[in-house]
Amino acid sequence: MPDLGAPRTLPFFALLPVLLALSQGLSHPPNSPCRVTQNTARCDGFRLTSVPSDLPHQIEELFLNQNLVLKLQYDSLSRYPSLRLFSCANSHLRAVEEDGFSGSPLIESLSLANNELHHGYVQLAHSMRCLTRLRTLDLSGNGLREDMASDLLQNLSSLEFLNLSNNNLLRLDEAIFRDLHQLKELNLERNLLFEIDGAFDHLKRLQRLNLAYNSLPCLVKFEMTQLVVLNASHNIIEWFITNLDLTETFQLETLDLSDNQLLYFPFLPQKSRLKTLLLSNNQISFYGHLAEHTSPNWTTSVEYYNLGGNLSNITVDLWNDSFHGDISSVELLDLRVNQVRYFPQGFLQKMPHLNRLWLTRNCLESLNLTAEDLPVTLYQLDVSNNRLTEVRAQLSSTSKLNNLTHLNLSLNDIQQLPPDMFTMLPSVSSVDLSYNRVGLCLPGDTTSLDSSACAVWRNLSSLKQLHIAGCNIMNVPPIIFKGTPLTHLELSNNPGLLIDQDSLLGLSGTLQHLGLSNTGLQNFDFSPYKNLKSLNISKNSMLELPRSLMTLNLKLLDLRDNMLSTIQSEQAFVLADRVQILYVNGNAFNCCQLQWYRTLEASRTLSVVDLSEVTCTDLHYQRQRAVLFNSFLCGRRNTEESFFWYILLFLSVSVSLVGIGVIYFLTFRPKVLPRAIKKRCWRPTPY
Ligand SMILES: *[C@@H]1O[C@H](CO)[C@@H](O)[C@H](O)[C@H]1NC(C)=O
Ligand SMILES: *[C@@H]1O[C@H](CO)[C@@H](O)[C@H](O)[C@H]1NC(C)=O
Ligand SMILES: *[C@@H]1O[C@H](CO)[C@@H](O)[C@H](O)[C@H]1NC(C)=O
Ligand SMILES: *[C@@H]1O[C@H](CO)[C@@H](O)[C@H](O)[C@H]1NC(C)=O
Ligand SMILES: *[C@@H]1O[C@H](CO)[C@@H](O)[C@H](O)[C@H]1NC(C)=O
Ligand SMILES: *[C@@H]1O[C@H](CO)[C@@H](O)[C@H](O)[C@H]1NC(C)=O
Ligand SMILES: *[C@@H]1O[C@H](CO)[C@@H](O)[C@H](O)[C@H]1NC(C)=O
Ligand SMILES: *[C@@H]1O[C@H](CO)[C@@H](O)[C@H](O)[C@H]1NC(C)=O
Ligand SMILES: *[C@@H]1O[C@H](CO)[C@@H](O)[C@H](O)[C@H]1NC(C)=O
Ligand SMILES: *[C@@H]1O[C@H](CO)[C@@H](O)[C@H](O)[C@H]1NC(C)=O
Ligand SMILES: *[C@@H]1O[C@H](CO)[C@@H](O)[C@H](O)[C@H]1NC(C)=O
Ligand SMILES: *[C@@H]1O[C@H](CO)[C@@H](O)[C@H](O)[C@H]1NC(C)=O
Repeated sequence: MPDLGAPRTLPFFALLPVLLALSQGLSHPPNSPCRVTQNTARCDGFRLTSVPSDLPHQIEELFLNQNLVLKLQYDSLSRYPSLRLFSCANSHLRAVEEDGFSGSPLIESLSLANNELHHGYVQLAHSMRCLTRLRTLDLSGNGLREDMASDLLQNLSSLEFLNLSNNNLLRLDEAIFRDLHQLKELNLERNLLFEIDGAFDHLKRLQRLNLAYNSLPCLVKFEMTQLVVLNASHNIIEWFITNLDLTETFQLETLDLSDNQLLYFPFLPQKSRLKTLLLSNNQISFYGHLAEHTSPNWTTSVEYYNLGGNLSNITVDLWNDSFHGDISSVELLDLRVNQVRYFPQGFLQKMPHLNRLWLTRNCLESLNLTAEDLPVTLYQLDVSNNRLTEVRAQLSSTSKLNNLTHLNLSLNDIQQLPPDMFTMLPSVSSVDLSYNRVGLCLPGDTTSLDSSACAVWRNLSSLKQLHIAGCNIMNVPPIIFKGTPLTHLELSNNPGLLIDQDSLLGLSGTLQHLGLSNTGLQNFDFSPYKNLKSLNISKNSMLELPRSLMTLNLKLLDLRDNMLSTIQSEQAFVLADRVQILYVNGNAFNCCQLQWYRTLEASRTLSVVDLSEVTCTDLHYQRQRAVLFNSFLCGRRNTEESFFWYILLFLSVSVSLVGIGVIYFLTFRPKVLPRAIKKRCWRPTPY
């Protein structure tokens, strides 16, 4: 977008149309720069100040975005009576003349997004009256207030898609959309809405409604049974309460209430088709444990006022966990970043189609990985970053969870779990158990090798990805992964790890990613792992690159924070040739041995992510940026020749100094300094 629009520049451009109109009278404008294909003309981004007049008459679509059209004149479009689509977004448009569209009444789709139409909205409202076929209207980003929008939308009864996002709407009443009987989709994102009062009552066909990024404090008496998608994310909603008197089936499939301030699980319709329920970043918890102590005094109603000061009352059973509307079709439940401590008895079982359950950053203390407590359809379960100390499982029941494929239990404090728990899950393919104190053990051997709780990883024929970073693992015996075809193993941040040459040998045929960051690794023979594509050996105080790395075809290599002083040039050539992404910073590189740096820098296929940050140590033990370091400062080491020249220079200077000294001595010796004075001057002064 051109950076115009500042009031200072406007008068000049206001003149432009006039000038252009004058020049049009004199001569036909040169061929417009537009691209015309079939019945579509594309004139985006040419700094045009008016609608080109030399396009074919029969065009049906005209794109005039990113130009400088300040005003649409009466005759601008009249040359193109067949227009169905007209788009003039981001063009500094301030007004459309009252009969601006009268010559092209067939327009069905009109986009005037991101202009300045709050100036000329009255004229625009008039001009649109003749567009009786208008189905799609985009007026987003025009600084419109609700009274302006109300004028603009009058009688647009054919409208099906309306975008009013990025305007200045504060409050919607029942008048604003009253004529839009056909409306299917309404976008009100990024306004300043704080109240909606009956505004949607007339929109009997509305299916998709976007209210994201407003300031709505609640959605109560929700009764839009026809709505399929409701997005009310990024508001300050504390209450979502459906009109509980309605018993008909709501068509709602997607409800997005993320990034609000809900304290209670939303009070959903009693019958619905809800599949996707997004509730992340709220403060939702369940309160049934308080219900036992409720006194008759506890409120069960929510009162709210509207702007007119009218008080309404809604009664919901706030303390009864058994009521949460119809969640029987839910497939995705996103509860990330909330306050859930437990689920009410049977709550998860009310969702017999649940595939994905996301619970990162809640307060769960225990988990039953059983078919009694979880739907057997579950595919992805993320309980990372909770307060789990215990996970329970039971062969007969856990083995029924045969769709469970992704399981994330990282960042908990798990101290108890059945060691063979993961062998009970028939389809598990990715497990993240990082940052728990769970060690490794062998079947039958219930005592861990390292710490109290432990897990068995043998014969898990479906397991591909295993993350056991930060588990305080000390020892990886060779047989531990036997029969488990891991492609991805993350062992990073186990600083005391003793990994010996054949610890992972069973994985040599399958392993593609290996994470050994911060594991005290010193040397390792990587050559058996021919399929490795990604290797992380950062933070390991390695003094030189393992030679075996050169036999691999790595795509990604992380060497950061080791103690490498250089990279042998033949190794640098191999890296530059084969690796695609490399990290090298944080080593003890010698500034005078940076040939490798130039090699990597010159490679076309390799991207060294931190190349410009790489530091090295120079002859004076100062840290330098490798990219700025001038190897001339290492002269002696660099070329024997320059050393020779230094000697030569030194010799010639000394010879001349000696010569001057001799001449001086011979010339002035007898007169200047008598021996006696000299001797006296040598005596130290007494004070
Ligand atoms: C809207 O339509 C009604 C009936 O079709 C008509 O009476 C009214 O004048 C129209 N309003 C405007 C502003 O055109
Ligand atoms: C307005 O919303 C429609 C869908 O409702 C979308 O296709 C269009 O890109 C939006 N326009 C802007 C400028 O965001
Ligand atoms: C809701 O709107 C926000 C903001 O545009 C968007 O990021 C989010 O993806 C939308 N949610 C759904 C379910 O489409
Ligand atoms: C209930 O409210 C009444 C009147 O406000 C009060 O006298 C009574 O002590 C309350 N009961 C309890 C259990 O809090
Ligand atoms: C408040 O309620 C009264 C009576 O029910 C009604 O006449 C009035 O229109 C309402 N005011 C608002 C702003 O809704
Ligand atoms: C709302 O309901 C509560 C209890 O059900 C009642 O005490 C209160 O008076 C009601 N308020 C109104 C305005 O109806
Ligand atoms: C919760 O509601 C259910 C069904 O309405 C009812 O059977 C149950 O007794 C209620 N529980 C409590 C603690 O009020
Ligand atoms: C797990 O199951 C046990 C009984 O097997 C039950 O006592 C406990 O409450 C359950 N825990 C959860 C979190 O559901
Ligand atoms: C298993 O999960 C996948 C992925 O979400 C889903 O498509 C499939 O329907 C589920 N299978 C069953 C039996 O629920
Ligand atoms: C598990 O969850 C943690 C924390 O939410 C996340 O950082 C990690 O990437 C997840 N693991 C996998 C394998 O997705
Ligand atoms: C692993 O599976 C193989 C064959 O499926 C079986 O022979 C072997 O006993 C199993 N080992 C363990 C430790 O379960
Ligand atoms: C290597 O592992 C460390 C520690 O887990 C991590 O911080 C770093 O981002 C990893 N490197 C890459 C390239 O992913």
